[in-house]
Amino acid sequence: MNILITGNMGYVGPCVIDQLRSSYPHARLVGFDIGYFGNCITTADVLPECKVDLQYFGDMRKFPHQILKDIDAIVHLAAISNDPIGNKFEEVTLDINYRASVELARRAKEAGVKSFTFASSCSMYGAAEDSARTEKSPLNPLTAYAKSKVLTEKDLEPLAGRGFKATSLRFSTACGWSERLRLDLVLNDFVAGAVASKRITILSDGTPWRPLINVKDMARAIDWAISRDVSNGGEFLAVNVGSDEWNYQVKDLAQAVAKVIPGVDVSINKDAQPDKRSYRVNFDLFKKLAPEHQPKFDLIASIKELKDGLEAMEFKDGDFRNSKYMRLNILTQLRDKGLLNQNLEWVQGSY
Ligand SMILES: NC(=O)c1ccc[n+]([C@@H]2O[C@H](COP(=O)([O-])OP(=O)(O)OC[C@H]3O[C@@H](n4cnc5c(N)ncnc54)[C@H](O)[C@@H]3O)[C@@H](O)[C@H]2O)c1
Repeated sequence: MNILITGNMGYVGPCVIDQLRSSYPHARLVGFDIGYFGNCITTADVLPECKVDLQYFGDMRKFPHQILKDIDAIVHLAAISNDPIGNKFEEVTLDINYRASVELARRAKEAGVKSFTFASSCSMYGAAEDSARTEKSPLNPLTAYAKSKVLTEKDLEPLAGRGFKATSLRFSTACGWSERLRLDLVLNDFVAGAVASKRITILSDGTPWRPLINVKDMARAIDWAISRDVSNGGEFLAVNVGSDEWNYQVKDLAQAVAKVIPGVDVSINKDAQPDKRSYRVNFDLFKKLAPEHQPKFDLIASIKELKDGLEAMEFKDGDFRNSKYMRLNILTQLRDKGLLNQNLEWVQGSY
C-alpha cells in the first residue's frame, strides 16, 4: 500500500503519520507539502517528516502528477486552514483549497488511485445553533474557508465511482497536542493562556457553539476512511466527524480549562460583536458507520495533554496570539519579508 499525505507538515499531519504507521506498518508513506510551517515545531526530538518514506516539497497549485504513479490512497490535508487567513487571502484560499483539491482528485482517479480522503470541516454549517446539523441539513458557509470546503465536496461527489472512493470528513474544530502545535484553535488558545499567564480571554461573548475533536481522533477517522468498504457509506461519503458529547459553548470550554488549571481568570468580552459562526452538529452517521473509530479523547484529557505539553516546552508567552503558533502570523511575516508573494508562493531566490 502506498499512501500520499498532502499537507503533512501542519498540525494534523504528524498525528496522521503516526496513526498510519501503526495501522499499516508495511505501507509506504509519502508526504507532499509547501512547508509554510516547517519550523513551527514544538518538543519533538525527531522531525515528523523523518517518519515518512519520502517527502516532497511543492505547491498543490503546481502538483507534479507523476507522483501519483503507484499511489493507492490519498489523504488530502493541504489547505489554507482557517477563517482569518481565508478572509485575508480569499482568492488564494479558493485556489489551494478548492481548485487544486478538485484537480488532484481528478488526476488521482485517472492515475488509478482507489481512495481519496478529504479533510473537510463542520464550519460549512455556519450559523446553526437551533438544532444539531446532520449531513442532510442545508449548508451555510459564512467564510471563504468554509465555502472552499463546500465547493470541493460538491465537485468530489460526481468523481466518485468506478473504483474511486471519495470520503469527505467534515471535522469538528481540532484541539490537542501535536508536534506542530497550533494555538489559533479555541481550546488550544485557552490552555495556552491559562499556562502562560493564568488568563483566558474569550474574544466573543462566549455563547457560540463549537463541536470539538482531538487531533489524534481525527487521525483515527482518517485511518477508517482509507480502508472503509464502499458498502459502508457508498462510493462518495460526506460525514460529520466528532461526537455528540463534544458540542460545547465556547464559555464552557474556558470554564473546563479553569477547572483543570486552578487560579485562572476567565474574561468574556461582553461588548464583542456576535460571532455568527455557531453550530451544533449531529454525529449519528459517523457513530453508525465507524463504531470502532469513535473519538477516544474527552475534553479533560485533551486539556491535560495540552497543559503537559506546553509545560514541557516551558511555555510562558502571554503574547502568544502574536507568535509563530498562529498560522496567519507566519504567513503574513513570510510575505512581509518578501519570502512569499501575494499569492503565497515562495519567491525563488529571496532566501
Ligand atoms: N485544525 C482544524 O481545526 C481542522 C478542522 C477541520 C478541518 N481541518 C482541515 O484539516 C486539514 C489540516 O489542517 P491543519 O490544522 O493541519 O492545518 P495546518 O495549517 O497546520 O496545515 C496545513 C498544511 O498544508 C500545507 N499547505 C498549504 N497550502 C499548500 C499548498 N499550496 N501546497 C502544498 N501544501 C500546502 C501547509 O504548509 C501546512 O503544512 C486542512 O485541510 C484543514 O482545513 C482542520
